[in-house]
Amino acid sequence: MSRLKVFNERKYSISSGISEKPGEGGRDHAVFAGTRAENDRRNCAVGNNIVLELGVGTGAITKFLQDVVPNEKSYLGIELDRHLVRTLKKNYSDLKIVCGNATEMHTIHGKSGLGKVGCVICCLPFVSLPNEVGESILLEIDKFMQSGCTFRTFQYAHGYYFPSAIKLREFMRDRYGKAKRSSLIVKNVPPAYTLTWKT
Ligand SMILES: C[S@@+](CC[C@H](N)C(=O)[O-])C[C@H]1O[C@@H](n2cnc3c(N)ncnc32)[C@H](O)[C@@H]1O
Repeated sequence: MSRLKVFNERKYSISSGISEKPGEGGRDHAVFAGTRAENDRRNCAVGNNIVLELGVGTGAITKFLQDVVPNEKSYLGIELDRHLVRTLKKNYSDLKIVCGNATEMHTIHGKSGLGKVGCVICCLPFVSLPNEVGESILLEIDKFMQSGCTFRTFQYAHGYYFPSAIKLREFMRDRYGKAKRSSLIVKNVPPAYTLTWKT
């Protein structure tokens, strides 16, 4: 039986079950354990809602998401690097992972045939993205936020005042209010905050 089926009956939280130990999750993955709050459960545990993961990378966060989404139709991952996607498809054969650009997330989601996006987990490196790409991605995220969604990302403490990090927070704050920021997650390497907005 697949791991997804094992967890079929579980309601999911976008953060539950994610390791805080660097040795288990690797770098950057403790960050999504930082705010394991009941309000995540309330916001994400709606049957038809799916989790959209942006910048799936090596799948270190996906590893935990697959354990908490209700079934294989509850997850969509988008990753630009086709080599990574090839490996991800092998490692997460139950999950829908698409090779594509997050600038086209709305179209990719539409073509997937999956349900409404209830949670966006964003691991994209805004610091290194060209300005216009970053802006286009934020506008795409806004389309999901318009119809009720939770958006969670992380920012490293050392990069918290980088222009791209401030820009993302301002974009979100102007539209959805102040972020719910986790305490500094020092177990992450490097230390980071999670930021969550809900509509
Ligand atoms: C910080 S890494 C991902 C971290 C991830 N949690 C992991 O386990 O590896 C960021 C990822 O975003 C991907 N990426 C960068 N720009 C992208 C874009 N425009 N659309 C989709 N993915 C993108 C990169 O290829 C990279 O794999």
